[in-house]
Amino acid sequence: MKPFTITSFEEYKEVYQDSIENPASFWEKYAKTFDWHAPWDEVHSGSLDEGNVKWFEGGKFNITENCLDRHLEEHGDKVAFYFEPNASDDIKRGMTYSDLHEEVCKFANVLESKGIKKGDRVAIYMAMTTELAIAALACARIGAVHSIVFAGFSAQSLADRINDCDAKLLITNDGLERGEKLVPLKEISDEALEQCSTIENVIVCQRTDTDINWNDDRDEWWHLLMEGAAIDHEAVPMDAEDPLFILYTSGSTGKPKGQVHTCGGYMIWTSYTMRNVFQVEEDDVYWCTADAGWITGHSYIIYGPLLNAVSGIIFESTPTHPDPGRLWKVIEKHNVTHFYTAPTAIRALMKEDIKYVNNYDLSSLKVLGTVGEPINEEAWHWYDEKIGNGNCPIVDTWWQTETGGIMISPLPGVTKTKPGYATLPLPGVQPALMDDNGNEITETQAQGDLVIKQPWPGMTRGIWGNKERYMETYFTKYPGNYFTGDGCRRDADGYYRITGRVDDVLNVSGHRLGTAEIEDAIDDHPRIVESAVVGYPHDVKGEGVYAFTICEGEISDPEAFKKEVNDLITRQISPIAKAGKVQIVSDLPKTRSGKIMRRILRKVAANETDDMGDISTLLNPEAVEQVKSGKAY
Ligand code: WTA
Repeated sequence: MKPFTITSFEEYKEVYQDSIENPASFWEKYAKTFDWHAPWDEVHSGSLDEGNVKWFEGGKFNITENCLDRHLEEHGDKVAFYFEPNASDDIKRGMTYSDLHEEVCKFANVLESKGIKKGDRVAIYMAMTTELAIAALACARIGAVHSIVFAGFSAQSLADRINDCDAKLLITNDGLERGEKLVPLKEISDEALEQCSTIENVIVCQRTDTDINWNDDRDEWWHLLMEGAAIDHEAVPMDAEDPLFILYTSGSTGKPKGQVHTCGGYMIWTSYTMRNVFQVEEDDVYWCTADAGWITGHSYIIYGPLLNAVSGIIFESTPTHPDPGRLWKVIEKHNVTHFYTAPTAIRALMKEDIKYVNNYDLSSLKVLGTVGEPINEEAWHWYDEKIGNGNCPIVDTWWQTETGGIMISPLPGVTKTKPGYATLPLPGVQPALMDDNGNEITETQAQGDLVIKQPWPGMTRGIWGNKERYMETYFTKYPGNYFTGDGCRRDADGYYRITGRVDDVLNVSGHRLGTAEIEDAIDDHPRIVESAVVGYPHDVKGEGVYAFTICEGEISDPEAFKKEVNDLITRQISPIAKAGKVQIVSDLPKTRSGKIMRRILRKVAANETDDMGDISTLLNPEAVEQVKSGKAY
């Protein structure tokens, strides 16, 4: 086991106590295990009250030297990534730490030759391939701030993100194949760039035979640029508090927010949590099935594993391509020891014939993980018994884009697990539950809003270009604390169970979606006067999107109308945000101040209309009956 790995519950309790009482000395000791060019002035400063937390400021280093160069002597020939393409086959494609180092250095030189400098923003809109990781790491190596955009997002979403951070360069593919689908990434990028004035160059990495348009003034092929690139590159020293990346995530209001993570704290947090939550050993193979377009991919496919010299897998396909045995096949093929996925995937696959599991030898597995949404007990037990054969601890990891890395989770073999519970906080994390009056609930057994009381190294340092929104979203409702937006229950053992969002954010198949952005998209429909989007319970996706719409005139074909609504969502956001149910209503229940009472809509959407709660404060109580008796398509 690597140093700083906790291996017993007694040790966990001691380490936890120390981390809370002496955060500076605790994190300083750990930080010293990395390569720095210059030491920090102060371990941490700032407060949650003021939203100005900093860690290791003044310290100079480059995260890629710690992900790559540092391992070359001992682990140069070790595989950093196995690439598992969309088409299933038996070929193992491993890229060693030395190879990855060389590719990152070459691409860093390419970026510099295009005039990209420290602090510039670079947008990455790519297939799940090794080149995506190379692109991100090359940005980090030269100090450019990467902003990876999930390749399932629309041209509009890509344009919004590029424009919000004024990205100078875009890296994309000609296209990508995911399952049976071909996504024309270059075509979508071209469409997005019609609205973007800051992009000077586009680098296109070839992945398919897709025909593409070419703009000679702007576009260049990845492989041609790489042919001439030098293999040496001296990493640019960064301050620990310089931004490493921006990643956009949905909130309860407005457009997605660009979360800013900085180099130092993020390195400390992802490496420490990776080490303790997964406890990967020298010859293990670790596989996180997330997409690098989400925070899980950033922290637990790219940075966390590389910082720990782990062998990982980059998976381009889907759990059901070419059949629902794909994940289990890949586990057998690569002798995967650590497997990390979303409850949605488990729920979808447990509905399939068990032969898809039984066809493969899963005996290499040691630790199973879940992330992104609450896991129901049935799925937890299926995962435990059918995939883990009853002898792999399940780490149910709770965290967020904003937290940078895992916050509440069992440690495998250390913490006794309990289905549906993320269990206990990691060292450095001090959770608390708040009541409706804004007071901390001190009883052990309780339910309330989940906050974090003390700064931790991996936390978001800001919303790109919008300090006010940062303060308002996270530090205003419960002053002095970071507000997570999640509801949570604590049991008699002090174990935490996350119950879901308490704000207007939906979690559909583990994807975070703001109801406001979906409403904005569908309000563009010429017949829609007003809309309200809420979530409804969905047995595979966890939550589905339910749209209530007030329309002008009669809608004669509601099925066709639903399709039009979903086309708008697909075009403006992504197919992942499509409405599962659309209901046409003549009125929406509103408070006297004109706010839509979503609580009522949620009950209707969940088909729990027996007790509608207090509706006496409504401006239009008659709307409740109308909404209740309507039909969804
Ligand atoms: C939810 C994903 C229950 C939660 C890493 C959070 C979870 C949101 C869990 C963040 C879990 C994440 N159990 N709910 N283990 N993990 N969530 O930013 O509502 O995409 O606020 O980060 O996912 O989603 P995000």
